[in-house]
Amino acid sequence: MRSYRIENFTGPDGLRLHEEASPQPGPLEVVIRLRASSLNFRDGMIMNGHFGSRISPGIVPLSDGAGEVTAVGARVTRCKPGDRVMPIFHQHWIGGSRPRGLMLGLGGDTDGTLRDYIMVKEDGITPIPDHLSFEEAAALPCAAVTAWCGLVQQFPLLPGETVVTQGTGGVSIFALQFAKLFGARVISTTSSDEKAEKLRALGADAVVNYKATPDWDQEVMKLTDGMGADVIVEVGGAGTLGKSFKCAHAETRIAIIGLLAGASGGEGFDFMSWLARTYRAGVGSRDHFEQMNRAISYHKLRPVVDRVFGFDEAREAIAHFTAQKHVGKVVISHD
Ligand SMILES: NC(=O)c1ccc[n+]([C@@H]2O[C@H](COP(=O)([O-])OP(=O)(O)OC[C@H]3O[C@@H](n4cnc5c(N)ncnc54)[C@H](OP(=O)(O)O)[C@@H]3O)[C@@H](O)[C@H]2O)c1
Repeated sequence: MRSYRIENFTGPDGLRLHEEASPQPGPLEVVIRLRASSLNFRDGMIMNGHFGSRISPGIVPLSDGAGEVTAVGARVTRCKPGDRVMPIFHQHWIGGSRPRGLMLGLGGDTDGTLRDYIMVKEDGITPIPDHLSFEEAAALPCAAVTAWCGLVQQFPLLPGETVVTQGTGGVSIFALQFAKLFGARVISTTSSDEKAEKLRALGADAVVNYKATPDWDQEVMKLTDGMGADVIVEVGGAGTLGKSFKCAHAETRIAIIGLLAGASGGEGFDFMSWLARTYRAGVGSRDHFEQMNRAISYHKLRPVVDRVFGFDEAREAIAHFTAQKHVGKVVISHD
């Protein structure tokens, strides 16, 4: 089987393609022929060495993938050959509260999905919603579950509430799509007018170009008649958090997810801002994944796939993704 491994932490050029033996399942294991994988911001950080010594060279990158079961161990009961499945991000988090000391997941401390076959325990998979292709399903495990958890895990979103999303990356586009499912109003920020058009086409009620309008928080205040947003899906981090607090009210829920605009520095916020409710949101458990898939299946929601690259074009896919020209998900087909 084909398998990309990180030889050097120098971005796409540091990947090496290997030919390896396909795995054979133990009694409770499942082998999946991966038909597609997808990229997340974290994958670019890992391949560029921004996770430091926590990631060992030689690892297969990427956390997200989708495919079909080709072999199962003698005691496996949760699936059979031919089933369409996705491996879950945190292989050991099935349900309940986030375990302490959760590890880095597939493509982090465990070999990931940029290869033809993956072997996982039978508990570490979930079925693909019937209406989705492998390319679409490969978009779900990290970004979609994170967006879902950001909107519903701590404080469920209500119809009519105003949600702010930041940028047009994977998490933010899923947050926009899910917020519309819940009947919420969405104000999205982005860096370009071209991307703004795409956001409107996907259902954003208002879009603010944060390059043309750096004080996008004031625009959110105007758009909410001085009230502020009810939920903010915070993927910017240090560079956006101060402004998120400035367009929050006392009950606003701020899901702290990412650091696209930096991990430190940024502007501060005043004492009263602390009245907003912040909580960390990230990739949830298998239960969260399956809760989300019920909504995706019922509403026939389709992930926004920006572009599909071939397996031999994995390096080009990574370069396209890290240039941040995409809207939604960048996918690699393994066919
Ligand atoms: N904690 C977790 O478990 C978890 C899970 C998933 C993701 N995350 C984090 O969430 C963030 C988003 O991940 P992703 O995979 O969705 O990223 P992504 O697809 O790489 O997002 C890229 C997009 O973000 C937007 N962006 C870049 N700089 C920005 C800024 N200063 N302000 C606002 N938007 C900006 C740009 O869109 P525009 O050009 O439209 O602005 C860019 O195209 C990352 O920091 C990631 O590490 C965390």
